[in-house]
Amino acid sequence: MNTILKTPRLRLRRPRAEDAAAMHAILSDAEAMRYWSTLPHTEPAQSEAWVADTIKALEAGECDDFFVERDGTLIGKAGLWNGDEIGFLFAPAVWGQGYAREALQAVIDHGFGTRGLAQIRADVDPRNERCLRLLTRLGFAETGRAARTFKLGEDWADSVYLALRR
Ligand SMILES: CC(C)(COP(=O)(O)OP(=O)(O)OC[C@H]1O[C@@H](n2cnc3c(N)ncnc32)[C@H](O)[C@@H]1OP(=O)(O)O)[C@@H](O)C(=O)NCCC(=O)NCCS
Repeated sequence: MNTILKTPRLRLRRPRAEDAAAMHAILSDAEAMRYWSTLPHTEPAQSEAWVADTIKALEAGECDDFFVERDGTLIGKAGLWNGDEIGFLFAPAVWGQGYAREALQAVIDHGFGTRGLAQIRADVDPRNERCLRLLTRLGFAETGRAARTFKLGEDWADSVYLALRR
């Protein structure tokens, strides 16, 4: 469904194939990708495939992702996947201005409203302090932890699980 979510400063809209170059700038950024579930992309083709897979998953009803625009420029992505799990990634250049929080609040309202979810979950690297601060401010609470849940290159990462109930 071609849903668009609007906030005071942002527009959340569905991904398009031509977003690949703008998304590559974020997906290849070591700081943005530090606690992501994959290593930073090194080739534009990886980001083209990532955007194409996201579009396919959306069409198949397997995810509910939005790309986030500020004044027509793509600054990140935020959405739901695996049913009720929230996922998001923003360009470091826009961190610290409340954009992620504004976008996530719109995704949360969409999840609890249009989608009728009972809860929204998150899986975060415990070292990802910015992300934990953001989710806590939005009302998420820790539900558990697990060790060695992701292998990134040679290094294992742990998970802290959080949830927000409707
Ligand atoms: C996690 C991530 C989205 C957090 O981004 P962020 O910009 O720090 O988050 P927010 O939008 O909540 O911004 C909060 C900051 O903006 C400040 N701010 C400025 N203007 C604001 C406004 N109008 N409204 C709200 N906050 C505002 C807040 O005071 C806060 O500052 P602080 O970090 O010094 O406490 C970002 O670091 C990111 O994309 N990381 C990489 C991907 C990632 O790790 N994803 C999570 C995987 S689970």
